[in-house]
This record gives sequence, C-alpha cells and structure tokens, in this order.
Amino acid sequence: IQPGQAIKTSWRKQPVFIRNLTPEEIAEANKVSVGGLRDPQSLAERTQPGKEKWLITLGVCTHLGCLVRPQDAKGATGFACRCHGSRFTADGQVITGPATLPLPYLELHWDAAGQIVVDRNKRAEPSFRLPPKG
Ligand code: FES
Repeated sequence: IQPGQAIKTSWRKQPVFIRNLTPEEIAEANKVSVGGLRDPQSLAERTQPGKEKWLITLGVCTHLGCLVRPQDAKGATGFACRCHGSRFTADGQVITGPATLPLPYLELHWDAAGQIVVDRNKRAEPSFRLPPKG
C-alpha cells in the first residue's frame, strides 16, 4: 500500500480501513489539539515510533455502531458517521458528535516478510501499539 493509498477489507461483516498515511496526513493528525479530544492521545502516543503512517481501524462508529465513511471525497481526511454526525480524525480520534471513543483498532503485527498482519479475531485496546518490525 503506497503512501496515500487505502484498502478496505472486512471483519465480521464490518469494514476495516487500512491506510498508509502521507506525511501531510500525519502532520494534520498531529496538528489536532490533543487536549480538546475526548480521548486525549496523540498519534505518536497511539503508535510505535516510525510506524505512525499505518492507520488500521474498524469503520464502526463508537456511538451506536453505525458504519463510518472516509471523508476523502470533499478533500477532508478522517471519517464521518452520517447517523448522528460524529466525525473522526485521520487517526480515528473523535472530533465532534455524540461518539465518546476513538474508532476501534484491531490487533496487528509484522510477519517475517515485513507485511502487516491484522489479527481479525482480536480488537485492540485503545492503548495498543503496533509492535516494532521484527
Ligand atoms: Fe455514529 Fe450515532 S452512530 S454518530
């Protein structure tokens, strides 16, 4: 997946977005005032050093479980839920709306060939970090 590209797969019939964030998208995520977030963690705090570019989230709103959509069509990054208007940053943090938690993550690791492997059987805690490439 090249920088700026994304793929969509599924987990238990729910969408999973895997994006390789561009440096600009990382910069945008880092510009968000963490103190204003409902779950105040920066992108750097949610990822391993050097791995901030991998955004792998469930596309499920943390308000009532509706599916979210990427906002790329209007030039904005991040995700939006049409049900009650929750909006999320490119790294899944809540910006506005009734959702109180960031978009959920799935547990993942690097395989021996250097590929990211998503464990579709485990949801990761918000504090989960992508382990160092082994
Ligand atoms: Fe997404 Fe309500 S389900 S805002």
